[in-house]
Amino acid sequence: MTQQNAQRSVPFSILAISGSARRQSTNTALLRSVRDVAPHGINVTVFDALGTLPVFSPDLEADPLPPTVAAFKAAVAACDGIIISSPEYVRTLPGGLKNAIDWLVSGDQIIDKPVALLHASHRGDDMLATLRLVLPTITSRFEPDIFERFELMKASPDEVAQVMREPEQKARVQAYLTAFAAACDAPKDELFC
Ligand SMILES: Cc1cc2nc3c(=O)[nH]c(=O)nc-3n(C[C@H](O)[C@H](O)[C@H](O)COP(=O)(O)O)c2cc1C
Repeated sequence: MTQQNAQRSVPFSILAISGSARRQSTNTALLRSVRDVAPHGINVTVFDALGTLPVFSPDLEADPLPPTVAAFKAAVAACDGIIISSPEYVRTLPGGLKNAIDWLVSGDQIIDKPVALLHASHRGDDMLATLRLVLPTITSRFEPDIFERFELMKASPDEVAQVMREPEQKARVQAYLTAFAAACDAPKDELFC
């Protein structure tokens, strides 16, 4: 961890957004496992409620915002960094994730927020390529090199949890989170993204 992070008096907080609204989602299960094995000093909160956000329209960006949107934007504003883990649908982002991104475009919650990707499948590279195109458009601090992929497609949530408790996988997650926290704490002018 960086000196800045070591000096933190409060834990580093990560909002982990699942792009899947499926109850048995491997991406959501992966993020829950990441939360459960996070090293001391890093707190992960899983956001798996993309399905509660109304379809974005600039017409709805009035005060007051729809309550679920206000809560989502507040969670984004409050965290130190964001991790996204998403399935690929029809060779691109699932509509719910794109909708959530659209809700963030006009605000200032994500503009300087570090964002990194995780992935729960051996497939889905078109979706990953699209996110790598879209995310630098909405944040100046997308971290493309901080990435881990786990081959969990079609696993049940219990199976995902079992795999992710294995020492090798747990170590990968902890190294990933530590690298992300260090990148987030790095002074902005040291970043090349
Ligand atoms: C509507 C739909 C479209 C999909 N399209 C693709 C696709 O284009 N490419 C692909 O590799 N997988 C595709 N899949 C498979 C999902 O990406 C895959 O099952 C993923 O692991 C599901 O993630 P989840 O378990 O978090 O819901 C599709 C699945 C659904 C339901």
